[in-house]
Amino acid sequence: MAYKIVIWPDNLTTTVNDNENLLDAIVTAGISIKSSCGGAGTCSQCKVLIKKGTASFSGAGKLTEQQLSEGYALACQTYPQSNMEIEIPATSRLSEHQVLVSQDKAWDGTVTEINPLFKKIKLELQIPTLNDHSDDVSRLFNALSAKEKTDPLRIGLEVIQKLPYTLRKGNWRITVSLSYIKDYTEIVDIEPGWDYRQYYGLAIDIGTTTVVAHLVDMETGESLGIEGTYNKQAIFGDDVISRIIYAVEHESGLQELQKTIQTTINELINALIKDKDIKPADIWYVSCAGNTTMTHLFLGIDPTYIRLEPYVPAFNSIIPIKAVDLGLKTNPKARIYCLPSIASYVGGDIIAGAEVVRIHKQDKLTLFIDVGTNGEMVLGNKEWLVACACSAGPAFEGGGITHGMRAMNGAIEHIRVKPGNLDVTWETVGNKKPVGICGSGLIDCLATLMEAGIIDRSGNFLPLLLSNRFFSIDREKYFILAHAEVSGTGKDITISEADVKNLIRSKAAIFAAIQTMLKMVGLSLENIEQVYIAGGFGRYINIADAIKIGMFPDLPMEKYKYIGNSSILGAKMILLDSETRDDTEKLADKITYLELSDGNNFMEEFVSALFIPHTNMQLFPSVNYVSHSE
Ligand code: FES
Repeated sequence: MAYKIVIWPDNLTTTVNDNENLLDAIVTAGISIKSSCGGAGTCSQCKVLIKKGTASFSGAGKLTEQQLSEGYALACQTYPQSNMEIEIPATSRLSEHQVLVSQDKAWDGTVTEINPLFKKIKLELQIPTLNDHSDDVSRLFNALSAKEKTDPLRIGLEVIQKLPYTLRKGNWRITVSLSYIKDYTEIVDIEPGWDYRQYYGLAIDIGTTTVVAHLVDMETGESLGIEGTYNKQAIFGDDVISRIIYAVEHESGLQELQKTIQTTINELINALIKDKDIKPADIWYVSCAGNTTMTHLFLGIDPTYIRLEPYVPAFNSIIPIKAVDLGLKTNPKARIYCLPSIASYVGGDIIAGAEVVRIHKQDKLTLFIDVGTNGEMVLGNKEWLVACACSAGPAFEGGGITHGMRAMNGAIEHIRVKPGNLDVTWETVGNKKPVGICGSGLIDCLATLMEAGIIDRSGNFLPLLLSNRFFSIDREKYFILAHAEVSGTGKDITISEADVKNLIRSKAAIFAAIQTMLKMVGLSLENIEQVYIAGGFGRYINIADAIKIGMFPDLPMEKYKYIGNSSILGAKMILLDSETRDDTEKLADKITYLELSDGNNFMEEFVSALFIPHTNMQLFPSVNYVSHSE
């Protein structure tokens, strides 16, 4: 039996079968809804309002009695028993805000010399005579070798088939399309004459939460457009583990996930070429940086063993794939290059960042940290390199925090609480009314709550405070960052004691990973000479506050540099420079992966770091809180 479901305010109609739930209906209708737990009924984010119809419910998650009585239900736990009408509130939607794609101008990762992975070359060939009757392919190769360094050069059957006619039609003038593959260059197309359409490439950061793409002019290196969106795979779960489980446990799960990321990227391509005289066929090369799981899912490769001990991926490095095999809206002959990974939890996005900061060329001992759901880091210099990953949780990406969000319009990215009267001031992305708080705001928030004496060093709310900014529900304590009257949602924007503890666990995991890695190579914090920070915090991160909360080492500020989304920068650098591409492969080979769960003291370090800033204050000599708990 199938039921008709009308979704408001979109006024979309879709159908569900007996055994399907409202989340399935919403996904089928193409609406992006929050569903971090992938439909397990535990995140309570897929809240919908039932306006008409009957259903059976398999759970209510964290919905309150009042919400239930008002008609709210969890989409993933609601099985229609009749035709229904439902409303998806704005707070349950993923597309509520624009993904922030602007870069921190502090770092310019552009390449100065363009030697792109794809180019078109104008050639004029010698006209054959009775004294010079070498074959067309040899003639083409000779002319090309005289003009370009292309050794070794290959040509496919399809191109040879059209070569005789094309050469003569163009009166021996042709345009040759060259793709740099791996250790060789391939002639992927030929056209008669020298009038050719402009050609473009795409640099893509395939993140677990968001996907960002640059449309790049391959002749000038200029980014003609940048677009970002949520990774539509979020409907299968927030993190890589939920998605691997979905891929493994559902029939066609892997294909669904692959199709979903293809759709996400194709929508970005549509947005990038819209209103420009550019067709999908003008896109000839794609460079992608993603974590190991995202890359497996994008390529449709079984990710099962990434999450099973001893955590072995199917591949780390792979030659560029033909676009036609991946269903991307580009020229079907385009090549898709995925940056190499080095382990299941240190992927191409980290290698991209390591390449951006040229860590393998540095004389100084350099630490590169990318903070996302995992905290991933590379330590070393031109002599040696090690990397590790820790599970920091999605807190600094806004996940698992009451009003946490990515750095999008309305996200609080900077905040201060005045000790004494507890007045709160903030800055938001886009100068909009606050609707939540992003990573950089959360770091600020933890530090300022400490300084204002609202929390103690373990993150407990202190009992002495009386202010209209505090309230409790079911013994959970909340501090109001923005009152309903001034917020963009018409509701209070808060941080709870549980949020604070969650953030402390995240920052502790990052600091513990740094300490463990240093100890494994026999070094200590003061040996670090420079630190590069990457991640989706927002437009900037307050490093001083990150030190104050014990997330990053207590080093002089001049040793730090925030480089924003280094994954997309690395992907773009590679797209525009074949030597950088080769160098990235070598860089990945040079890095030794350290497994933190394997016979080291990570857990001990983690427990010690569960204080603000740390149990051992000697590690943070510059941090001096006035303690309100003692
Ligand atoms: Fe429905 Fe998480 S509770 S998706």
